[in-house]
Amino acid sequence: MATDPTTSALAEREPIGVIGCGWVGLVTAACFAELGHDVHCRDIVPEKIESLARGEVPIFEPRLAELLERGRERLSFTTELAPVLERARLLFCAVDTPPTHSGDADLSRVERVVDEIGESSDHALVMKSTVPVGTGRAIARRREGLGYVSNPEFLKEGSAVDDFMGPDRVVVGAEESASAFAERVAAVYQPLGAPIVRTDVASAEMIKLASNAFLATKISFINEIANVSEELGADVTEVARGMGLDERIGPKFLQAGIGYGGSCFPKDVSALKQLAGNSGYHFQLLTAVIEVNELQKRRTVGKLKKHLGSLVGREIALLGVAFKPHTDDVREATSLVLAARLVGEGANVRAYDPVAGAHARELLPGAHVSGSALEALDGADGAVLVTEWPEFRELDWAGEVRERMASPLIVDGRNFLDGHALAEAGFSYEGVGRPRGALGAPSPA
Ligand code: UGA
Repeated sequence: MATDPTTSALAEREPIGVIGCGWVGLVTAACFAELGHDVHCRDIVPEKIESLARGEVPIFEPRLAELLERGRERLSFTTELAPVLERARLLFCAVDTPPTHSGDADLSRVERVVDEIGESSDHALVMKSTVPVGTGRAIARRREGLGYVSNPEFLKEGSAVDDFMGPDRVVVGAEESASAFAERVAAVYQPLGAPIVRTDVASAEMIKLASNAFLATKISFINEIANVSEELGADVTEVARGMGLDERIGPKFLQAGIGYGGSCFPKDVSALKQLAGNSGYHFQLLTAVIEVNELQKRRTVGKLKKHLGSLVGREIALLGVAFKPHTDDVREATSLVLAARLVGEGANVRAYDPVAGAHARELLPGAHVSGSALEALDGADGAVLVTEWPEFRELDWAGEVRERMASPLIVDGRNFLDGHALAEAGFSYEGVGRPRGALGAPSPA
């Protein structure tokens, strides 16, 4: 992106509107405030706006509270759209687009925002919400005056602020008629120093879905390599290390485990598959990616049964409920599927998570939510490590845990623990894609 001084000056003065104060909206607002912009945030939930205005942060995301506090003078929160429209021209839309039963994205919240803005040639709707390819074009057709810019987000939960401030790339998609708005959007990101991909709207929308689908494919691929490695005596952590050094492959997203979860991958992979299907194209690869992910969750139950036989009446500890560490998010978490299966097999499930416990209580019917890892492990016939929270490495496995468990069986769904040390301490240890006898602790992710 050329650093034209007029563009920079414009960026310095650009007031920003953020519509939807969920996880993406709040991170976006906090980071733009940190970059020196005035940010006007709108959400339709009054309680959320009231607590944000009091300086309370409704979600768990590292550094977010600190940035919101530092940017307090530059941030405003309201339930009304009018004051936002009055003060800002770039309206970053971050309302959620949850999946419907058919796998399509529910665009009703986006539609409502478009309707509320109405006809305005002074404003641009900058779409951060993940939408199907073609959404931008359809909105632009309906509201010819309104500028439309696609600006997908690539933030990861747990590192969203750092991801926003140091992105690999920023994607800005717009048609010719909205190119002036697209320049202004590019300008507000320019201080981050990342490559800016200026493209058309449909391609920008596709970049988002294709990126998530590709990452999910990488995970399902390494999970299948893991499953074959178990049969053939290879160690998937060694295989991934050797593969990842090839620059064309890269080391990231090659950690075999019990399947991907979260609010994004399952939703976006299904959305892209569905979108392709609606256009008459059968996306074979994504069908397999989804299937492999479902099967991967089930394999854990098989590993427990291999050691325990029937699970009826067995006490099983689940360590971790969140879909990944450093978040309290349990949406599409593997733990939920696993707990339901274990309960279905007749097991008594006790789940523990350092931060997601409260959410877990509502979502794990039939399972007991424990107050600590040791409480969950006390008297357990087997334990499954579901989420790689660092505190699970710190447990006194060889001492206190070994004494407390009724039978020392660990299924390590993330290859996170030191299998050698556990085996030496008398545990039966099952990793993912690792033959017994080759169980050194993997290097931290
Ligand atoms: C994902 C993408 O990584 C972001 O770029 C994107 O912006 C976001 O979705 C979104 O669409 O909003 P996120 O869902 O926060 O971010 O989580 P990831 O860190 O990507 O992990 C997703 C899942 O994959 C987790 O369940 C994780 O345990 C699993 N995973 C990840 C593996 O099983 N193996 C790996 O090697 C990496």
